[in-house]
Amino acid sequence: MLVLGSANADLVVPVPRRPGAGETVLGGDPVVLPGGKGANTAVAAARLGAGVAFVGAVGADRYGDLLRDSLAAAGVRTDLLRASTRPTGLAFITVTPDGENSIVVAPGANSDVGESDVDALTWAGVSVLACSLEVPVGTVARAVEAAAAHGVRPVLNLSPVAPVPAAALALLDPLIVNEHEAAALAGSPGALLDLGPKSAVVTLGARGALVVTREGVTEVGAPEVSAVDTTGAGDAFAGALAAGLANGEPLPVAARFAARVAALSVTAAGAQPSYPTLERVREFG
Ligand code: RIB
Ligand code: NA
Repeated sequence: MLVLGSANADLVVPVPRRPGAGETVLGGDPVVLPGGKGANTAVAAARLGAGVAFVGAVGADRYGDLLRDSLAAAGVRTDLLRASTRPTGLAFITVTPDGENSIVVAPGANSDVGESDVDALTWAGVSVLACSLEVPVGTVARAVEAAAAHGVRPVLNLSPVAPVPAAALALLDPLIVNEHEAAALAGSPGALLDLGPKSAVVTLGARGALVVTREGVTEVGAPEVSAVDTTGAGDAFAGALAAGLANGEPLPVAARFAARVAALSVTAAGAQPSYPTLERVREFG
């Protein structure tokens, strides 16, 4: 599969609580981890055994090296990860004791992922394209259209939410959104298909996900876990879902699997470092 999206270095600080405006809060020891919604999705899918190539951009700096190394260590092909003249994207992340995070992203090199990167792609042997935002939405739309034109199934995790042109929306199978985005976009999960996608998946955090097709809405549960760090759980979900689809699984089966992978990811710190292997998912039951 191809994954097109962002790669960020995550600068993570554990904090007792979030600071308010004008306030300074002292945190615990900082860590620098490989992240970014696109790179996270690619690593999640590769850990589960999928053949993945990542399309994106990083700067010529040590954070770019960190991301390239993390992708490669997970078995992701990095020949389509371009070096940009801009700095590698950074995410400033605070994590509170309940495992919840707040994130500010400085996209940097991610803003440089452009339509020419898409036009250079070859699609032979690719079954699924998984995209997310933090890269220009026009680039994502072009990738979705190119994928569909080549018989490749386009999946879009609409995170962070951005307005996607209707022509690209109509090709998605599925559009993935969280419950807040679903409510803001469509009012109700069932109404998501009125926006045009062939199918939709609404992630519900600890409660699992909803699969929305023309046949109706199916609920998929998630195992109960205690949350350490929810950062990148949505990306783990998207990567696992795309891996399942690339494996020929029907959408509800892939979504059930993805909900288990996402649940496992919240039990450990960080995004990419917390993503399970297929073996670990199987042990989990
Ligand atoms: O979804 C989690 C990701 O969002 C983090 O890894 C961070 O880089 C931001 O892109
Ligand atoms: Na995690």
